[in-house]
Amino acid sequence: RRPLVTAIGGAVSLTLAGMALQAQAATEISLGHTLSSTSHYAVGAQAFKETLEELSDGAFTVTEHTSGSLGGEREMIEGLQIGTVDIVITSTGPLGNFVPETYVLDLPFLFEDYDQARCVLDGELGDELLTKMSDHDLVGLAWSENGFRHMTNSRREIASPADADGLRVRTMENEVHQEAFRQMGARPTPMAFPELFTALQQGTVDGQENPITVIVATNFWEVQDYLSLTGHVYSPAAVLGSPILLDGLSDEEREWFHEAARASAEATRQEVSRLEEEGVALLEENGMTVKTDIDIGPFQDAVEPAYEIFTAEHGSEMLERIQEKA
Ligand code: PAF
Repeated sequence: RRPLVTAIGGAVSLTLAGMALQAQAATEISLGHTLSSTSHYAVGAQAFKETLEELSDGAFTVTEHTSGSLGGEREMIEGLQIGTVDIVITSTGPLGNFVPETYVLDLPFLFEDYDQARCVLDGELGDELLTKMSDHDLVGLAWSENGFRHMTNSRREIASPADADGLRVRTMENEVHQEAFRQMGARPTPMAFPELFTALQQGTVDGQENPITVIVATNFWEVQDYLSLTGHVYSPAAVLGSPILLDGLSDEEREWFHEAARASAEATRQEVSRLEEEGVALLEENGMTVKTDIDIGPFQDAVEPAYEIFTAEHGSEMLERIQEKA
């Protein structure tokens, strides 16, 4: 018979060894996005983390990298392709450079409201686009949200396209957006988001355009006086994965990632809706002059040629399918 103390000691070391093995087996997942830790993307990142860690019973742990610490969105998408980052929450801004089929989503004034945009992205067309990503070394996990984009600048109130004439406006690295701003008479300047605050501060550009969520999360009131609620384009976001990670997982594990991405998208959309309600007042409190009652007709007319240029290059099939849902 073994003495009691030795038996207990053996059991304890077995348990410790088991715990050590479990700890060793946990795979760390890196998740990157470009916004601050108080942003709607951060809310989505936390939901992703909680869901994945819970579903996998701790086999996967998620580390969130905020504020573009892994680079701008274009760089992070490249990182997914080569496996230097595992999960990225990104707008579709630079995504068209990788998956041209997604350019359609960035056409100005395409979606009328949040319900229509969410319905299209959660439907057949959204699923098809997510599947398409695998032709381009990316895994499309879920459609999330950035929000309707509005213009800010440091020069003047914008109430009509004529007011945007000659303004140097930072756009995302997206040819559809650049064309739309050119048509409005502005001077589009594509730039990665992490460079934007300094560019506004130093006057390299006069303005930028982003959803209320981003304007709030980035304290743009410190460098921009005017906000015009143009809502000129709906900006989707996507939760993307690296095929280098996901292709090596079992079906069950992969499904956990899809579920975590859906939970992330849901949490982000809720935060976008909340900030749409409360954000404008907050921006006014911080000194921004907000132009709310904008006649968007002249803006729609001004960007019309962007549609012709888009369809000449990418065809009109997807565009017509989205317009049918209006
Ligand atoms: O303006 C952009 O580049 C995007 O809207 C942002 C802020 C990176 C969020 O996806």
